[in-house]
Amino acid sequence: MVYEEALKKLSSYGQKHLLAFYDSLSDEQRASLLDQIEETDFSVISALANEKANTARGELSPLSAMTVAQIEERKEEFTRVGLQAIRDGKVCAVLLAGGMGTRLGSADPKGMYDIGLTKHVYIFQRLIENLMDVVKESGTWIRLFVMTSDVNDAKTRAFFAEHDYFGYKADKIVFFKQDMAPTVSFDGKVLLENKGRISTSPNGNGGWFSSMVRAGIGDILKDEGIEWLNVFAVDNVLQRICDPTFVGATILSGYEAGSKVIRKANPDEKVGVICKEDGRTAVVEYSEMTDELRNSVDENGDYLYYFGVILNYLFSVKGLMRALDEELTIHIARKKISCIDENGSEVKPEEPNGCKFELFIFDLLKALEGCLPYEVVREYEFAPIKNKTGVDSVESARKLCAQNGIEL
Ligand code: UD1
Repeated sequence: MVYEEALKKLSSYGQKHLLAFYDSLSDEQRASLLDQIEETDFSVISALANEKANTARGELSPLSAMTVAQIEERKEEFTRVGLQAIRDGKVCAVLLAGGMGTRLGSADPKGMYDIGLTKHVYIFQRLIENLMDVVKESGTWIRLFVMTSDVNDAKTRAFFAEHDYFGYKADKIVFFKQDMAPTVSFDGKVLLENKGRISTSPNGNGGWFSSMVRAGIGDILKDEGIEWLNVFAVDNVLQRICDPTFVGATILSGYEAGSKVIRKANPDEKVGVICKEDGRTAVVEYSEMTDELRNSVDENGDYLYYFGVILNYLFSVKGLMRALDEELTIHIARKKISCIDENGSEVKPEEPNGCKFELFIFDLLKALEGCLPYEVVREYEFAPIKNKTGVDSVESARKLCAQNGIEL
C-alpha cells in the first residue's frame, strides 16, 4: 500500500493522525507502517459508538446441565462412542494460546510458566501430558492445533521445539496465528504504540476458527475428515483434553456443541455462566454479568445461574463452517494501554486510558444447533492459573495437581 492509499483508508475511518509522524520515519519504518495500515481492520472501531446496541442481550433464562450422576450412568456408552470417533481421526484439539497472560506478571507466553516444584513442569507440558493420556487410551495420535498471536508466536514455537514438543509427535502439531485488533482511546482514536506502529492487541479468543481457516487449516480438516474440534484454554492444567466420554456424550446428544461446566463455587466466581438466550444456548461472561443475574434465586433460594463454563468446548466442524458467515458480538474492554501521545511522548497510564476489542468464543454457540452443558467435577478438572497467588493461582493449581497425584 502506498502513502496516498493509506491516507485514503485512514480518512474513511477518521484516523489520519496515525500518519502524523510519517515524515520522521526511516524508509523501513514507513514501509512497515503502511503494511500495518493495509492489514488492519478498522471497521471494529464502530463497535465503540454502538456498544450499547451491540452488546444488548436477548431474553435470558437458566439452563441446567447433564449432571455428573447422569454421565456416570451412561459412561460406558459415551466412552465407547467417543473413543471410536477419536480412533477414526474425527476429533482434534485446539489450544487457545494467543492471549497475553499479563496477570502472571511475565512477558512470556503463559504456557511457558513453570509450575514445577522439584522439577520443571511447564503449563504447556502439563497440557500435552493430559492429551497424551487419551493418545495412549485410544492408540491414536490426535492432531493438535495451537493458536498463537503476533505477541507470542515466535516464542511459543521455539519453546515447543526446544522441549522436543514434550514428547508429542511434532508433525501432529500445527501452529497458527490469531488476528489482531487496533486499540483506541475512549473517543475512538486509534492509538500509536510508537511513531511507526499502530497499537494492537489479540482480538479475543472468539476469532479462532476464522483465523484457523485463514491459515489454510480448513483444507486439513476437510482432507482428513475431521468432524469435531475440542477447543481449550491454556491456563487450566487439570483439564481433560479430547475426553472420550465428553466427546461421546456430545455426539450422542445430537447437538453441534458441548461445553464442560462446573457448579460455581460462589455467585462471584469469575466464570461465564451457561444459560438460554432467546431460546438458544449462550454464555454470559463474568465481566458482563449484572448483579441481578448473578444473585437471582428460585423459590428455594437456590441460585438460578450456577453452571460456569471452564472454557473447554467441543464444536462440530460442519456447524463452525456455517458460523463463519455470522458476525460475532464485539466486546469492549477498558484497559491501561501504553502508547504515545500527539506530541510523540510515551504514555504509561496508571488508569485505563483506552479500549481493546475482543470476540468471545462462546458467542459462536448462537450460530450452532444446540450445545450440551456437561458437568465435570471441579476438583478433578478445573485448576485455572490466572494469578500468582490466591484464587485461581499457581498456588491453588499446584495443590489441585497434588490432590490428583500429579508430581510437580
Ligand atoms: C475465560 C472464559 C470464561 C471462563 C474462564 C474459565 C472467554 C471469553 N472467557 O475467562 O468464560 O469461565 O476462562 O477459566 O472464553 N485467548 C486467546 N486470544 C485472545 C484472548 C484469549 O487465545 O485474544 C485465550 C487465552 O490464551 C486463554 C483463554 O483464551 O487460553 C482464556 O483467556 P482469558 O482472557 O484468560 O479468559 P478468562 O478471563 O480467564
